[in-house]
Amino acid sequence: MPMAESASAEAPADCPLCPRLVIYREANRVSVPGGFNGAVASFGDPQARLAVVGLAPGRMGANRTGRPFTGDGAGWLLYDTLLKTGFATGTYEARPDDDVRLVDCMITNAVRCAPPGNKPETSEENACRPFLSARLAALPRLKVIVTLGDVSRRNVLKALGLKASAGLPGHGTEFQAGPYVVLNSYHCSRLNTNTGRLTPEMFAAVFRRARHLIST
Ligand code: URA
Repeated sequence: MPMAESASAEAPADCPLCPRLVIYREANRVSVPGGFNGAVASFGDPQARLAVVGLAPGRMGANRTGRPFTGDGAGWLLYDTLLKTGFATGTYEARPDDDVRLVDCMITNAVRCAPPGNKPETSEENACRPFLSARLAALPRLKVIVTLGDVSRRNVLKALGLKASAGLPGHGTEFQAGPYVVLNSYHCSRLNTNTGRLTPEMFAAVFRRARHLIST
């Protein structure tokens, strides 16, 4: 069930909800000096019909730069694919002050603070989920949600008030979740792309399908 309208779609940068993530953030303020080191806000078009939901900020990526998927390996494929499929304009330069603009698309994360080892705990997913529910509910034209990886898929379903089992996992699976169509993709992490589990073509196919769905 969508959150009440008053719920915030974005965590405050110094969000106190998850003690382990607060400790990690404080450590990162030392080891990633000058970095953003806070809860990373969603990025994109408030009138988006497509939402892309990642896992959580990477320590040296979004956690450092302050923009989702910006500055780490996963961002190159994501932004390149969004540019190729018409969901972004500009030139991605892995910096939050490049000129990339998302078109009809918003990128957010299931968990807004960087977790150690890129692995949030279940309690952290639960604590952060109201922001995800509110983020999705605050997109008035939203039609399609692309989930990147299984943590994203599960959290999106729960954020919509459904059971995690309400939609099949896997790459390229698709299902109705309330008023939205969910398209699952493997996460565009370097681990998946370097091993060939996810190819640029497999990834682009998901966004071409999203384009088709929002246009019909
Ligand atoms: N950066 C993000 O913002 N999210 C991810 O899931 C991975 C990298």
